[in-house]
Amino acid sequence: MTPSDVKATLSFSDGSPSMDLPLYKGSIGPDVIDIRKLYAQTGKFTYDPGFLSTASCNSTITYIDGDKGELLYRGYPIEQLAVQCDYLEVCYLLLNGELPNESQKAEFVSRVTNHTMVNEQMQFFLRGFRRDAHPMAVMTGLVGAMSAFYHDSTDINNPEHREIAAIRLIAKMPTLVAMAYKYTVGQPYVYPKNDLSYAGNFMRMMFATPCEEYKPNDVLVRAMDRIFTLHADHEQNASTSTVRLCGSSGTNPFAAIAAGVACLWGPAHGGANEACLNMLYDIQKQGGVARIGDFIKQVKDKNSNVKLMGFGHRVYKNYDPRAKLMRETCHEVLGELGLQNDPLFKLAMELEKIALEDEYFVARKLYPNVDFYSGIVQRAIGIPVPLFTAIFALARTVGWIAQLNEMISDPEYKIGRPRQLFVGATARDVKPIGQR
Ligand code: CMC
Repeated sequence: MTPSDVKATLSFSDGSPSMDLPLYKGSIGPDVIDIRKLYAQTGKFTYDPGFLSTASCNSTITYIDGDKGELLYRGYPIEQLAVQCDYLEVCYLLLNGELPNESQKAEFVSRVTNHTMVNEQMQFFLRGFRRDAHPMAVMTGLVGAMSAFYHDSTDINNPEHREIAAIRLIAKMPTLVAMAYKYTVGQPYVYPKNDLSYAGNFMRMMFATPCEEYKPNDVLVRAMDRIFTLHADHEQNASTSTVRLCGSSGTNPFAAIAAGVACLWGPAHGGANEACLNMLYDIQKQGGVARIGDFIKQVKDKNSNVKLMGFGHRVYKNYDPRAKLMRETCHEVLGELGLQNDPLFKLAMELEKIALEDEYFVARKLYPNVDFYSGIVQRAIGIPVPLFTAIFALARTVGWIAQLNEMISDPEYKIGRPRQLFVGATARDVKPIGQR
């Protein structure tokens, strides 16, 4: 971290001594005030629920400028990566800091490809779930269970263990997501086919059956690969922070990633694409395009608790750059499948148009986020709505691993332990039960 010449001075109106706090400069983005010695010197904590003004770590992986609508992985704009690289190149970049050259890429692809199969015993583990279990419930279990299957890669402090755990997780997530799906629909699992691309192999494991040949459609494979790339990392969001916090106790990588999967499930985070599609279905059922006006009124009503899912973002106060790319893919996929006139897609496009022009959304800088379009694309491809977040988890796994590894390799890393402002009862005596 680069110290700045400027110092922040914290002063108190009650005459307590003031304190100088060091400032650090990032390579881009806001400076940070180092408050690590604050408690020792003043006996006070800072208060920042939701981390609105708190950097929990320093990182070299992903940078977001929410006002500009900019997303960089290791310095490369997402717009260039999405168009010029495939997902496994992006994985290599996130893990290693540089894009691979041809031989590095070939070696990485071959390593990942050689780990796509999962221990056969996993099938029997999967069978313990109800067939109607939510795929994210199943994925939380399956990813956590990997630590019970791969004992030789569970020591988070051993760089070789971390490396092999990373390859295993990236390689096996598509297999596990597809198995979770096949289990739900009662079809036989399809084993990986290693001469296909990462995204093509995933689609085959999802949609092939033993009864007939399956040839992945190139446009749809490209769309799936783009979904993976756009979701690969997003700096210190809720699930990534969960992975870091979980891993900070020294737990094994599979357990830490399973915690990330659990966090991602929530509708304010990764569950938004599923929530968005369900919202579209609801509007559709209640009258479709004609119902949009009433729905938007409800969204604007503070007491209704209704949100326009797929809109708004904690960091982006401009168009989410991933949404722009996903919008492009959305039109490509709908064109390829001849779905431009599908009523649900028309409804989504109309909703987008109205919200982008409405004063409420404009004033609050609420733009469509990536989930608004990724749900539509996935539905068009034939992915069932409850599986959307599992696909997000598949794609984000590499980001979680890169962030976890960065934390473990940081000499300054400590177990995460936030403090609190306690406002509950002060010490009191327990009365015998008859006197309470
Ligand atoms: N619909 C209607 N109003 C909204 C929405 C929305 N989707 N999002 C924010 N607002 C309003 C909010 O009510 C508040 O209004 P006011 O200032 O009058 O009280 C204002 O906009 C600011 O919102 P906020 O709650 O302070 O924003 P936040 O940064 O805490 O929340 C968010 C961000 C993503 C949780 C929220 O925008 C939201 O719930 N969106 C819908 C869910 C969604 O699409 N999530 C996916 C995020 S992208 C995927 C990812 O990276 O995980």
